[in-house]
Amino acid sequence: MGRIEELIVIKFGGSVITDKSRPLSLNLGALDSLSKILSMHHSRKVIVHGGGSFGHYYAKLAGLNTRCKSVEDVNQVAVIRKSMLELNTYVIKSLSSYGLNPYTITPFYWSKNLNSLKSFLHKLLSQNICPVFFGDVIPCTKGFKILSGDDISYSLCRLLKPSRMIFCISVDGIFSSSKMEGPIVRELDPKIVKSIVAKESFLDVTGGIARKIKIAYKISKLGVDVFFVNGFKPDDFLKALNGEYGVGTCMRGIR
Ligand code: IPE
Repeated sequence: MGRIEELIVIKFGGSVITDKSRPLSLNLGALDSLSKILSMHHSRKVIVHGGGSFGHYYAKLAGLNTRCKSVEDVNQVAVIRKSMLELNTYVIKSLSSYGLNPYTITPFYWSKNLNSLKSFLHKLLSQNICPVFFGDVIPCTKGFKILSGDDISYSLCRLLKPSRMIFCISVDGIFSSSKMEGPIVRELDPKIVKSIVAKESFLDVTGGIARKIKIAYKISKLGVDVFFVNGFKPDDFLKALNGEYGVGTCMRGIR
């Protein structure tokens, strides 16, 4: 088990906690399994979750992605947000049922003043409360855009310098082939990241795995170890929480 003073940022990928092939479908079993493992680990945790078949579904319908865009029918914005709040309610329920004391923080609280967010988070964490963030739809100069849970994770790593960052994804790690087959890359060398990023394919509105790798690289440059683990495999998740290398894909923090 991890040391009590360790702080870990964990992203629940939307493809784990929801069924991405069916709109608005929760994967309660997977969500509860993540919550259960978290409850077994003695560390301070900050959780971020994605949109999966909730937010992504409606964002796609609205034609929104991470770039700022004008929206003709603002009801689409309301619908995206509503779906994310619904998903967040499920996440909170699950985390609560495992005694994790979740406390949701939306972009409203933190987009302006990062320093006040930092002391706010430390206050929550010192009281054994687990801050929870989620990917969201937010206003920007020309309209609206999607703020992905991955971008939020990066901002949190920059702010809090956790011991490690764990992305729970729906596969065993990063594949050596862009066709998502073949062996898993156990250690992602920052030097090869550039070539992977160059083959970027936009699988979903916030950019799929290539964008994740790019964000992981940015996080590793903060000196934070980044793990990609299969969120459907409790043992892998627990090992990553313990900081064990050799599980999933790891990009070690550049120190
Ligand atoms: C997307 O967040 C949030 C919305 C579409 C509103 P993420 O991009 O982090 O979601 P996943 O993890 O890929 O599903």
